[in-house]
Amino acid sequence: MATLELPGLIDIHVHLRDPGATHKEDFATGTAAALAGGVVAVVDMPNNSPPTVDEQTLRHKLGLASQKARCDFAFYLGATANNATQAPANGHVAGLKIYLDETYGPLRVQSLSTLMAHFKYWPRNRPIAAHAEGLSTAVVIGLAQLYDRRVHICHVSRKSEIELVKQAKERGASITCEVTPHHLLLTEKDAKELGGYGQMKPSLGTLEDGEALWANLAIIDAVASDHAPHTKEEKEGRTPPPGVPGLETTLPLLLNAVAHGRLSLERLVQLTHDGPARILGVRAPEAASVEVDPEATYALRGAQLLTKCGWTPFEGMMVQGRVRRVYLRGAKVYEDGQVVARPGSGRPLELA
Ligand code: DOR
Ligand code: ZN
Ligand code: ZN
Repeated sequence: MATLELPGLIDIHVHLRDPGATHKEDFATGTAAALAGGVVAVVDMPNNSPPTVDEQTLRHKLGLASQKARCDFAFYLGATANNATQAPANGHVAGLKIYLDETYGPLRVQSLSTLMAHFKYWPRNRPIAAHAEGLSTAVVIGLAQLYDRRVHICHVSRKSEIELVKQAKERGASITCEVTPHHLLLTEKDAKELGGYGQMKPSLGTLEDGEALWANLAIIDAVASDHAPHTKEEKEGRTPPPGVPGLETTLPLLLNAVAHGRLSLERLVQLTHDGPARILGVRAPEAASVEVDPEATYALRGAQLLTKCGWTPFEGMMVQGRVRRVYLRGAKVYEDGQVVARPGSGRPLELA
């Protein structure tokens, strides 16, 4: 049976928890999970503790990733109330991340003047990524146009949001957007059954919301996992933190959608490779590819994943399409459940 070869995936939205919460994940385990999912480059979010918001915290994170990462990486800088004028011209900063709505960790910008300052001072050649739900989506689209800045809208999850993005794009707004596999495939009904394991931000929507995302796939620029691991103990506790892992399940779930005729293979590659590289203006890692068995059918199992958290909201789901081997810079980095790449072999992504 023929193997399928795809370009290595670029996941532009992950939380690898290093530094600050390495009991959930760290650069070594998170990037092992990435390779197992065919992902050869990740862009890590700034809601660490301490948050990644200045030269010092960026440099610290770069040191950790350089020692531990097994795939390539870049970082977002987190927007705060007082760092708008000091955007570090650090070569590893892929973009600015602004949290307009509540999330995990303290990073959040609610003041209009702070938002305006960030839009005014952020360099035009790098994107501003936004966690913007509901009305906040309209706010960032407006600011993108007023300040002539490129805005990337993270994890679009609602029908109204994707319709707004579509309208804005039709009018020529300089915006891009991503969706997650969980917002494409799970609904608020699943959230009820999953309990703490089904909680994330944005929360799961209705069936209609999910269908609107599928219906608007043509204007979606990327699929990103929003890999946000928390331990089982935390998820089963009284106040489960929001977030679900996804690095290892994104590609199998998308291949499954291809097998069921919901997505073309060409579109899958655009959403996981071409689009991500274009959004962030990064060069895709060289000689990076994934060999896939498109026929293999199996159940997703948290216990078999390499993420430190060891669970998935897609537990037991049958999928068709398995990652067999992954190559990065021509070297085999993953084969049949075994990560070959060493910690420290990953490199900073080159920003174009
Ligand atoms: O569910 C989420 N989890 N949404 C976010 O915005 C943050 C993330 C996390 O870091 O756990
Ligand atoms: Zn978010
Ligand atoms: Zn996130």
